[in-house]
Amino acid sequence: MRANLFNPNFFIPNYCILCRLIPCLLLCLTLCGCSQDMWNDSRLKPLAASPVFVDGRSSRTLVADTVSRYAPVMETPLVSGMSGGKPIVDIFPVSITRTLINRGQQRYNIYCSPCHGKTGYGDGMIVQRGFPVPPSYHINRLRRAPLGHFFDVITNGYGNMYSYNDRVSIPDRWAIIAYIRVLQRSQNATLSDVPPQERQQLDGNSP
Ligand code: HEC
Repeated sequence: MRANLFNPNFFIPNYCILCRLIPCLLLCLTLCGCSQDMWNDSRLKPLAASPVFVDGRSSRTLVADTVSRYAPVMETPLVSGMSGGKPIVDIFPVSITRTLINRGQQRYNIYCSPCHGKTGYGDGMIVQRGFPVPPSYHINRLRRAPLGHFFDVITNGYGNMYSYNDRVSIPDRWAIIAYIRVLQRSQNATLSDVPPQERQQLDGNSP
C-alpha cells in the first residue's frame, strides 16, 4: 500500500510501520538542511552585557537632543504657526534674509504657482485647465491675514486645496510665506517704496 499523508487512515495503527517511517525520515533529512547561522550571529540582546564598550553595556546612552518619533510635536509658533491654539502668529519666527526669500521664491514656484500663478493672482496653469480658482493673494482679506493663517493653509490644506504638510518642510513653509508677503507688497507698492535714485527709471527718463 502506498503511504498517503492526506489519507485519514494513515494515522490509524494498522498502517504498515515502514510506510510511516519513510516520510518522517525524509522530513528529518530536509530539516537538517536548515542552517542555524543567521540565528546564532553576534548581535547583542537589549541590555545584555558587552565587552565591546568600556562601560560593559551593550545599550548606548541616547545622543543629546534625541527626539522620539512618537513624541508629541511642541506647539511653538515656529512649528505650528499657532498661538494659544489659533493660527494667528504674525511675527516671523525665523529671520528674514535674502537667502530665505530666494528659497521661498523657488519653493513657491514649484509647489504653489501651478495653481496660484507666479504673481499670486490665482491664475496658474492647473486652474486654467479647470481646477477650482483660488482667491488672489492681493485681496484685502489675505493681505491682512496673519502669517499663521498661511502656515495653517499649507500645513492642513483649505477647502479644495490639499495639505502640503508632507512636501513642504517647516522652514520652507516660512520661506514661502515670506515670499508671498513679497508678492503682496509687489502688487500694492507706491512710488515712495522705490529708492529715489531708481525712481527716474520708472518715469522712463533712465539713461
Ligand atoms: C492644486 C492647486 C493648488 C496648489 C498647488 C496650491 N493651492 Fe492654495 N488654494 C487652492 C485653492 C483651489 C484654494 C481655494 C480653496 C477654497 O476656498 O476652497 C486655495 C487657497 C489658498 C489660500 C487662501 C485661503 C483663504 O483664506 O482663502 C492660501 C493662502 C493658499 N491657498 C496658499 C497656498 C500655498 C502657500 C501653496 C503652496 C505651498 C498652495 N496654496 C498651493 C489651490 C491650490
